[in-house]
Amino acid sequence: MGMPEIPSNLQERLRAAKSVAVLSGSGISAESGVPTFRDAQTGMWARYSPEDLATPQAFQRNPRMVWEWYQWRRQLVLEAQPNSGHLAIAAMEGRFAGFRLVTQNVDGLHQRAGSSRVLELHGNIFRNLCFREGIELDELVESIEPPPRCPHCGGPVRPGVVWFGESLSGKVFEESLRACTDADVLLVVGTSGLVHPAAGLPAHAKASGTFVVEVNPESTPISGLADVVLRDKAGPALTSLLEALP
Ligand code: OAD
Repeated sequence: MGMPEIPSNLQERLRAAKSVAVLSGSGISAESGVPTFRDAQTGMWARYSPEDLATPQAFQRNPRMVWEWYQWRRQLVLEAQPNSGHLAIAAMEGRFAGFRLVTQNVDGLHQRAGSSRVLELHGNIFRNLCFREGIELDELVESIEPPPRCPHCGGPVRPGVVWFGESLSGKVFEESLRACTDADVLLVVGTSGLVHPAAGLPAHAKASGTFVVEVNPESTPISGLADVVLRDKAGPALTSLLEALP
């Protein structure tokens, strides 16, 4: 199979672009062996229920199970390596002065590939928060029954990700919105476009004149508004795109 072709109108847009933004989702980490959430068969939510694992209520009901599930995911991510898609995005940062990366991913693989200034809409799986106080913790008190405890108040420790029913950081969201709407070109990579408010960013960008490109092997609600769709996996598509840059 040859490398994906980059349409000439996209090449022209990129050549003229002063600012480029990327919005990524779990699909970009799929080629690193990190399961997505909604892919049939392989997705996390095909095997586990988000109501049991990714809500504050689930944590209140069964903190040990939720903590251990996230420990398992932390391990999975630590054993994974950034792939050519992550690396291509990191390389793009050096090519465009006004480059911004907005991710829904909590796995830190973009940073490990060399991206800096990553806007993490849904937090980071390696951060720890006190469930009671919401403050970030650098030190944890181990307990016989997981999860560990907060050294200040003794409350249970939770991962620093945004759960269903929780609000995103207003500051991070506003900065992400600005990054997408200010960009000349927005690349939307590996997201199903189903989880709001992140899923609304491409439409906001489009409404403010940004050229929107989708990179996804499957059709999504974003496909209809995209100016160009690359129906390929992130790794080969972004590698081709990088090679097409001047
Ligand atoms: P989803 O699992 O909803 O969607 C993954 C997308 O990646 C799908 O559209 C796939 O077609 C696509 N995909 C699969 N393999 C790919 C590949 N190799 N290259 C490119 N695309 C590929 O994941 P997200 O859209 O990230 O929330 O999900 C959004 C949020 O829902 C997540 O951030 C998470 C989840 O619940 C929180 O953790 C708060």
